[in-house]
Amino acid sequence: MGKKSTKSVRDLLFGDLWEYAPAPQSSGFVDLKDHYGHFINGEFVTTEETFETINPATEEVLATVSIADDATVDRAVKAARKAYDNVWSKMPGKERAKYLYRIARMIQEKSRNLAVVETMDGGKPIRESRDVDVPLAAAHFFYYAGWADKLEYAFPGATVKSLGVAGQVIPWNFPLLMAAWKIAPALAAGNTVVIKPAETTPLTAMLLAEIFQEAGLPPGVVNIVNGFGETGAAIVNHDDVNKVAFTGSTQVGKIIQRAVAGTDKKLTLELGGKGANIIFDDASIDQAVEGIVNGIFFNQGHVCCAGSRLLVQENIAEEVLTKLKHRISTLIIGDPLDKNTDVGAINSRDQLDNIKRLVDIGEAEGAEKFQPRCTLPDKGFFFAPTVFTDVTPSHTIAQDEIFGPVLSVLTFRTPDEAIEKANNTPYGLACGIWSDKGSKLFRVASQLKCGIVWGNTYNRFDPTSPFGGYRESGFGREGGVQGLLAYLEVR
Ligand code: NAI
Ligand code: MG
Repeated sequence: MGKKSTKSVRDLLFGDLWEYAPAPQSSGFVDLKDHYGHFINGEFVTTEETFETINPATEEVLATVSIADDATVDRAVKAARKAYDNVWSKMPGKERAKYLYRIARMIQEKSRNLAVVETMDGGKPIRESRDVDVPLAAAHFFYYAGWADKLEYAFPGATVKSLGVAGQVIPWNFPLLMAAWKIAPALAAGNTVVIKPAETTPLTAMLLAEIFQEAGLPPGVVNIVNGFGETGAAIVNHDDVNKVAFTGSTQVGKIIQRAVAGTDKKLTLELGGKGANIIFDDASIDQAVEGIVNGIFFNQGHVCCAGSRLLVQENIAEEVLTKLKHRISTLIIGDPLDKNTDVGAINSRDQLDNIKRLVDIGEAEGAEKFQPRCTLPDKGFFFAPTVFTDVTPSHTIAQDEIFGPVLSVLTFRTPDEAIEKANNTPYGLACGIWSDKGSKLFRVASQLKCGIVWGNTYNRFDPTSPFGGYRESGFGREGGVQGLLAYLEVR
C-alpha cells in the first residue's frame, strides 16, 4: 500500500510532475555574418554608422548592422525608380509571377534557417516561427504570384496600373512575415520597393535579400535599408516615393500620416489594437480557454490584433477564470529555441520596460493581478503571463495597447453590453466571439467596429483574407484581393 500523497490536486496536475525535458532546436547550422549592411540595386552595401542586433533571450550580440542615412535611402529609391521604369513595370505579369513563385519556393527550402534566425533575433518561440511565420511568408508570395497575371480580372470593369516606388516600414513582431505582407503584393502589382526592417529584428530581411539575389530578381526591384526611425522617416519623406505602407505604433502612424498629407503619395497604415475576445455563456468553455490563451500569449502578446481584453459573460466568469488560470499555469516560459516553449522572450529591453510600466499602472489603478508560479531565465528579457481581473473600461490597461503577455478581464451581462464594451477603445482592429449560436455570433460581429472578427477561433491568418483596421488602428487592407488595391491605381 502506497503512502498517502500530501500534494494538493493543483500540484499533482500542474506541479513538477509535468516538467518537460528540454527539446532544443539546434542552431549550429545557422551561418550568420558578423555584419549586415543594406541591399541596394541587387547588391549588399555597407555604410559607416552601425548598430547591434541582439538575441533578446540571451542578450548576446548576433551581428552589427549598418544605418542608412538620407543619402543611402536616396540611393535605394533611385535604384527602385530605375528598376520600375526600365524593367519591372514593363514586364508582363506572368513573368513577374515566375519570380514570386521562385521566391516562395526558396523560402520553403530555407525555412529551417529562416525560422531559427527569426527566433534568435526576435525572441519568439521556435514553434511559432517554424509553424506560423515562415510558412505564412511563403504563402503570401505564392498567393500574390497568382494575381500577377490576373490583375485585369481582379477589379471587373476597371483598368489597373501600378503606382511606382513603394516605401515600406515594418515592425519587429513578425519581421519576415511583415516583409512578405508588404513586398509580395507590391511586386505582384508591378511596383518596386524600398523597405526598412525594424531595428531589433533586421536579420531575416537580410536573408530574404539573399533569396532575392539567388532568385535572380532584377536589381533594384526590392531594396532593403536598415536603421532606426530616422531611416524610416527618410523613406516616407522621399519625394520620389509614390506609396507609403507602414505597420507599427499608432504614435508613429500619426507622424507618418501628417508627413504624407498634402502629397500625392498613397498611404496605408496598420497600427495598434486592443482586441476584445468575447465569451458568451453558450460557448464551449474549454475551447474558449484555449482561444483566450492563443489570443493573448501567442508571440508574447506582441501582436497588433491580440485578444488583449477578455470580455466574459458574468454568469460563467468564475468558471472561465478558474480554468484559464490553471491553463496558464501549464504554459512553458523560457528559451525560445526550445520546441516546447509556449512563451518566449520579450523583443527588447525597451518593450519589457513598457510592459512593466503598464502593469504597474494596472496595479496602481486597483486591478487584481494574477501570474502563475514560474521561474524566468536569469538572462534575457522575459515577462510572466499576466491576467488582470477587476478591470473597468476606464482603466489604462483596458484602453492602452500593452503589446505583451498581459490580459485585462472585464465582464458583461447582455450581448449589447458586450458590443458596447468591445467598441469602447480608440482602436478598431480585431475581435473574437465565442458562442454556440451562429445567429448571435453574426449579429454581434456586424456591430463590432473592427476590421477582423474571428468566430470560435482567434489569431488565424491566411493570405486570401484581408487584414486591417479602423480608427486608431489605421486604414487600408493587407491580404486578399483587397491587399492589391493598396498598390494599384484602379480606374
Ligand atoms: P515603432 O512604431 O516606433 O516602430 C515600428 C517601425 O517604425 C520600426 O521599423 C521603426 O524603426 C520605424 N519608425 C520609428 N519612427 C519612425 C518615423 N518617425 N518614421 C518612419 N518610421 C519610423 O514601434 P516601437 O517603438 O518599436 O514600439 C512601441 C509600441 O508600438 C509598442 O509597445 C506597441 O504598443 C506598438 N507597436 C505596434 C505594432 C503593431 O503591429 N501594431 C508593431 C510595433 C509596435
Ligand atoms: Mg534582435
